[in-house]
Amino acid sequence: MQNYHGKFIVFEGGEGTGKSTQIELLEKKLLENGFNVFKTREPGGTNCPISEQIRKVLKDPANRDMCPETELFLFLASRAQHVKREIVPHLERGDVVISDRFFGSTLAYQHFGRGLFNLDEVKKINDFATGGLEPDLTVLLDIAPEQGLARIKDKIKNDRLDSEALEFHTKVRTGYLTLAKIRPNWAIVPADNSIELVAQNIWQKVSEVLDL
Ligand code: TMP
Repeated sequence: MQNYHGKFIVFEGGEGTGKSTQIELLEKKLLENGFNVFKTREPGGTNCPISEQIRKVLKDPANRDMCPETELFLFLASRAQHVKREIVPHLERGDVVISDRFFGSTLAYQHFGRGLFNLDEVKKINDFATGGLEPDLTVLLDIAPEQGLARIKDKIKNDRLDSEALEFHTKVRTGYLTLAKIRPNWAIVPADNSIELVAQNIWQKVSEVLDL
């Protein structure tokens, strides 16, 4: 695990937790405080055309027949490219990198959600893909899946991953809450409060990490 000048902040959570809104608010606040910010997402990534192509394959509703192993390796392939080409160079430059999802999603969706793959095995192959890069902070936005899915109901039918059954999303949520206890540097932020209150809670955690 390397030490970079920059900080790596990841947002995790189920569908419809409001990650995008909160990431935008955090980016604005960081810019106001004089930080350079690199905002990105997974699967895919800002300025990462190869990872974005993999994202399309993963999300395409026509790819119903994708086996779990293929899915896992595609997420990790997208991540390897993203980490090496964008995330690490930005951290070396001293930027604050904010990623909408990272390794926590792989554990929550592929391990806990699908009920497949040994957790330690997934960690091992993920570390191979990322060189062992760990976020300085993972913000888990937590909400009941029924509430989250209701917020995004219009986009569900176009997305292979969002259209999983409620039972799957419930397992993902339970998985996330477990990860927040067993993984380093996770913070649970309830996402069913007002946008402003959620943003305040997040800023408090981020300020600690940035020593503000
Ligand atoms: P989103 O960009 O709309 O959040 O969609 C990404 C989807 O991919 C979401 O359903 C979570 C899922 N996902 C995984 O299953 N494993 C992963 O490792 C990542 C990064 C995302």
